[in-house]
Amino acid sequence: MILFPRNTFEGLTILGAVSLFSFTDFTYTATNILIGSYIFWIWRTRHERGYLFLKPTEIDIKINLSPSSGRCVENKVTRTLQDFGLEPVFLHKEIKGPVITRHLIRTQKGVQIKKMPEKDIARDLGVKSIVFSSNAGKSLISVDVPNKQRELVVFDDLLKTQEWLDAHKNMKLPMITGVNVVGKPFIFDLAKMPQLIVAGTTGSGKSVYVNSMLLSLIHSGKPFKLIISDGKGEDFFPFYRQSKNLLQNETAKGLAVEVEDMIDQVEWLKTEMDNRFSGSSSKTIPIVYMCDEFADITMQDKDGDIENSLTRIAQKGRSANIHCIICTQTPNSDVLSKTLRANIPSRIALTTGKGKESEIILDQWGAEKLLGNGDALVKIIGSGQVERMHGALITKAHLKALVK
Ligand SMILES: Nc1ncnc2c1ncn2[C@@H]1O[C@H](COP(=O)(O)OP(=O)(O)O)[C@@H](O)[C@H]1O
Ligand SMILES: [Mg+2]
Repeated sequence: MILFPRNTFEGLTILGAVSLFSFTDFTYTATNILIGSYIFWIWRTRHERGYLFLKPTEIDIKINLSPSSGRCVENKVTRTLQDFGLEPVFLHKEIKGPVITRHLIRTQKGVQIKKMPEKDIARDLGVKSIVFSSNAGKSLISVDVPNKQRELVVFDDLLKTQEWLDAHKNMKLPMITGVNVVGKPFIFDLAKMPQLIVAGTTGSGKSVYVNSMLLSLIHSGKPFKLIISDGKGEDFFPFYRQSKNLLQNETAKGLAVEVEDMIDQVEWLKTEMDNRFSGSSSKTIPIVYMCDEFADITMQDKDGDIENSLTRIAQKGRSANIHCIICTQTPNSDVLSKTLRANIPSRIALTTGKGKESEIILDQWGAEKLLGNGDALVKIIGSGQVERMHGALITKAHLKALVK
């Protein structure tokens, strides 16, 4: 029999066993080998975990565990919550997604999520933020902790998922934008939304998010006409101006960069809606209107005419197959008035600077704790519940290749 020692320790163990075998009886040798292997097994498992001579209580302090790793989170969360008089019990059913790991805990009844010391725990764990939320229907609390290494959600991969291939066929305006906390694709039908606000601070990933909406819709091959207002002229204009889905019209431009053209677009949209209702326009092909920065329009809309028109479109657009996606980096009540918001039920919040801005978008705080780069909270009409999603990354090269 030939033995291959993998390291010095194994080598010595084998040597010891062989020499013992030569000098003593078999039972004695076998016992020695067993004891030797046991010591070796303990040494190896400890060595792999990164600690060798520490007592278990010292482990979490000495070894550098990833912040989302179960043991580290469990100890730190437990310690901090105990300081607040709570007795959390971890259910050990954590779900590791591409961006966060969701831990589930049970604690005393009547605990208010709002009062959880999220900031203290985030500081303890050395992460940007952690989020506590109640698990609807179950008496459990979710604790979302950012992964040390964030996985990229790639748009191309989403288009290949079975979920998308199965779902998009039966939808009128199918869109796929990313994945949920467990990595399941987030697919929806804009026709059912039927209007949408997308808001978040600059650089939070709005334009990328909206691009995945529009590109997945174009990719689905469903018939629709596209109207884009892109004040910056960077994130949409260069790519979509060749798109065959773009509205071709004499009164309004399919793709507007100047404010006057943006205003013409909204006015045309309202007239088209009225015509569709009165029967003077026989066209019923769905229209998707996307405004990348709504503040560009509201700043010029001193008497509120454009806002009124958009509110009318938001109220009645669905029956005329007209759908709006209104984006802004300044979610406040000057840009998104209460009336407009009341008529746009579905919302997507990317990271915001303040909790107040999150409240404007979602009617609740929370988006200020997101991690940026497409990390989002989504509120879809009907469910009323806010869910966390991670947007997919689309690069400019993708855009060039996909928009024909
Ligand atoms: N889903 C994502 N995954 C990874 N990085 C992203 C994602 N979304 C956005 N980013 C990064 O953030 C940058 C800004 O995104 P962008 O959509 O232009 O922000 P905004 O429109 O909110 O100002 C992008 O250039 C990209 O580097
Ligand atoms: Mg943008």
